[in-house]
Amino acid sequence: MSADAVAAPLLVVGSVNADLVVRVPRHPRPGETVLGGDLAVHPGGKGANQAVAAARLGADVAFAGRVGTDAYGPLLLGALRRDGVDTSLVATDDGATGVALITVDDDGENAITVSPGANGRFTPAHVDALEPALRRARVVSLQLEIPHETVAEVMRRCAASGTRVVLNPSPGLWAMPPHALGMCDPFVVNEHEAADAVRGADSAGLEPDPRGDASDGPLERARRAVLALRASGAEPRSVVVTLGAAGAVCAENGGDLVHVPAPPVHPVDTTGAGDAFTGALAWRLALGDPLADAVGYAVRVGAAAVTAEGAQPSYPTPADLPPPA
Ligand code: ADP
Ligand code: NA
Repeated sequence: MSADAVAAPLLVVGSVNADLVVRVPRHPRPGETVLGGDLAVHPGGKGANQAVAAARLGADVAFAGRVGTDAYGPLLLGALRRDGVDTSLVATDDGATGVALITVDDDGENAITVSPGANGRFTPAHVDALEPALRRARVVSLQLEIPHETVAEVMRRCAASGTRVVLNPSPGLWAMPPHALGMCDPFVVNEHEAADAVRGADSAGLEPDPRGDASDGPLERARRAVLALRASGAEPRSVVVTLGAAGAVCAENGGDLVHVPAPPVHPVDTTGAGDAFTGALAWRLALGDPLADAVGYAVRVGAAAVTAEGAQPSYPTPADLPPPA
């Protein structure tokens, strides 16, 4: 199928990885070998996670990304399709598929090495093929596990077609051109990414350490992150700061901050909770929800995702959602 045929209201553009997970008694030091448990292979990657989270909630969603010709490519495509994600915009190239090598120790601590593989070969030239889908989508959701210049090219085209962009600058902040940051609606960050954003913003005029001190609560830290983004002169159209068990804070450009608490749950594994949150948020925005309502839905999805092991296996259907806090 060509891009002309894809008219999903939500288009996720980004990464897809095979997560290769081994439990270990402790992480190996350089030069050391440790014996672990059996290898488990799970579909992952922030882009694919977002798309699957949305699909499981009933979204009409397409994913645009890149896999290799090794055994992981078909496995990941199959997983996306089984969840009902439109994969007609996924390209296959001659190299390796993206892989995350993950060891988890007895304390539940992760050590992760990512080989971007085909994700790293998703170049701006490949964005041409996405043009009709980018134009038709109501919302395009982006993360930063593909080259930044490709993300910038997608954003440039979304600006030209007036398509709304949701961006989660994960796994690491990119010194985004101000016009790109200004397009994000919303810019979705967790507490770590919010602190990075504060460090990266031109915080002239704010107090010396706009992150505040350790005595600040999560709400205060989120407030400081939003203020720092505003002070940078490139305020996103809207901002969402996710706060783990404390839910999330959202703010429209120049508007008041709204705190949306998460429903109380017993957390088992928080892997991929942020991706579930963002996939759900992007879908609700594509349906036309106001930001605070979409965040209210997304915190329930994030909360459900922490109640079971893994990322995609823990993503809820509507029937699995806890009631609002
Ligand atoms: P990330 O996974 O990117 O670090 P967060 O930890 O902020 O992001 O979690 C994202 C969302 O998942 C939160 O906004 C919330 O909705 C949900 N969530 C995460 N941890 C918990 C928790 N312990 N209890 C309830 N909800 C949670
Ligand atoms: Na989980």
